[in-house]
Amino acid sequence: MTSIDALMRSVPVIPVLVIDDVAQARPIAEALVKGGLTALEVTLRTPAALDVIREMTRVEGAVVGAGTVLNPRDLDSALAAGAEFIVSPGLTEPLTDAAKANRVPYLPGVATAADIMRGLDHGLDRFKFFPAEAAGGIKALRAHAAVFGQVRFCPTGGITELSAPDWLGIPSVLCVGGSWVVKPGTPDPATIEQAARAAAGLRKAAQG
Ligand code: 3PG
Repeated sequence: MTSIDALMRSVPVIPVLVIDDVAQARPIAEALVKGGLTALEVTLRTPAALDVIREMTRVEGAVVGAGTVLNPRDLDSALAAGAEFIVSPGLTEPLTDAAKANRVPYLPGVATAADIMRGLDHGLDRFKFFPAEAAGGIKALRAHAAVFGQVRFCPTGGITELSAPDWLGIPSVLCVGGSWVVKPGTPDPATIEQAARAAAGLRKAAQG
């Protein structure tokens, strides 16, 4: 199992996936991996999500995680389905304790200095900055980064193909998350692969 830091450095973009139909799981994962995006966040927002995780873990080269993990019960279900990392929109004590107890790579969401400080108290220094655009955008993240020099971020929420390069230009940003790579509806694998290839080609300025 890889660390959350290594996972964040493995790709510039983590696609955030909301998938209703388990039949779409494999073609979507295969297209993303073929395009160069190997870390896949399957959000637990649809009844099919756990089955989607199970299917996607069978795709060679895919590192499949669960997103929208809200509590220890979600975390247990996601791990049972084969999730290799856990993403949450926020940072709570019960979820953080459960993630630590399971030693699973864990990316909790933070939006404020107090959130980051609670994470640091738990020994964490890798966070999802969420909701990135609504919580103040690049200006807010730069302000947090100036205060918390050791912290690295994966901004997510409102980021687009067009704005992603600006976010990735911030040294404390290791990757970004976004749903733009796989648009809702009936996805065409060739379109997904093309979007993944463009996203995988984005350059990172992150250091340290
Ligand atoms: C998430 O779950 O991280 C966000 O819903 C993704 O945000 P986006 O849809 O604006 O990319």
